[in-house]
Amino acid sequence: MDTAAIDTLIGQARETLAAAADAAALANAKARYLGRDGELTRRMKELGKAAPAERAAQGKRLNEVKQAIEALVAEREAQIERALLAERLAQEAIDVTLPGRGTGRGGLHPITLTIERVEEIFRSIGFDVADGPEIEEDFFNFTALNTPENHPARSMHDTFYVEGGLLLRTHTSPMQIRYARLHQPPIRVIAPGKTYRVDSDATHSPMFHQVEGLWVDEGVSLADLKNVYTDFVAQFFERDDIEVRFRPSYFPFTEPSAEIDIRFPDGPLAGRWLEVCGSGQVHPNVIRNIGLDPERYVGFAFGSGIERLAMLRYGVGDLRQFYENDLRFLQQFAR
Ligand code: DAH
Repeated sequence: MDTAAIDTLIGQARETLAAAADAAALANAKARYLGRDGELTRRMKELGKAAPAERAAQGKRLNEVKQAIEALVAEREAQIERALLAERLAQEAIDVTLPGRGTGRGGLHPITLTIERVEEIFRSIGFDVADGPEIEEDFFNFTALNTPENHPARSMHDTFYVEGGLLLRTHTSPMQIRYARLHQPPIRVIAPGKTYRVDSDATHSPMFHQVEGLWVDEGVSLADLKNVYTDFVAQFFERDDIEVRFRPSYFPFTEPSAEIDIRFPDGPLAGRWLEVCGSGQVHPNVIRNIGLDPERYVGFAFGSGIERLAMLRYGVGDLRQFYENDLRFLQQFAR
């Protein structure tokens, strides 16, 4: 093999190797020269046929060619590996300047916040907080509250009835009865919760919340009711310039009964009387139904709509917004 032939061979090998784009192609190219049937291997085998005088020199040359091609292979191998690594790094690159994904900040629902607020205020003046079933017996929802069957006031409630003679409580008042039957005076309790009526528009939802209040003891009077509720209004709205008025009304379970209205001195609702609560002195029949003597014990009770309080406090115009689960609305209440 003369110098020109060697140069041609090495030149060809360099080209073939350079054209190998990946590890598999490179292995093929390498085999073409150095493999068992490779060009160089073939020439090495032919060495035996060479004249003995030339054999050593030829062998030495072939060895040099072999080493040169091996060096080319190693170089190409390193190149391919570097390219592969660079590609992987580019793919897996992390842009540390991107803003983090973060975790969305959760928050309590405005209705929950309102209930918590009401509880906190009443707890601070010595009221207990009670709970009761949403699927209620007719007895607790109506009868015990001095609203026997065929009483006209039942038709005001548009009740959802469920199987087994049960109903979805139409107000939180049944919890007064349940609590008072298990406790001795002085009874001071509020009971917030869900209530249900067949009703739905901008100011009514078939499910809504109320908070019930009850204070039963000897010598409790409507003056106490006025004080407690007026104080509650000031604390709830965090201002003491809101007017509170008691307007005669009717509820079967109280006598006398009153609606409580409030009026803001300023803001979008300035000057308008807004109804926020039903109330009254607990009817003697109800006192009897909770197992107490109406000659000895008196009480007052009230029931406020939570959504109503929340709408006034947060300036929400449509009650349905509380239940549409629009995050843009709800996120405004996250603390
Ligand atoms: N339960 C009444 C309603 O849903 C509200 C109410 C009025 C509750 C007078 C009371 C009360 O405790 O004394 O409309």
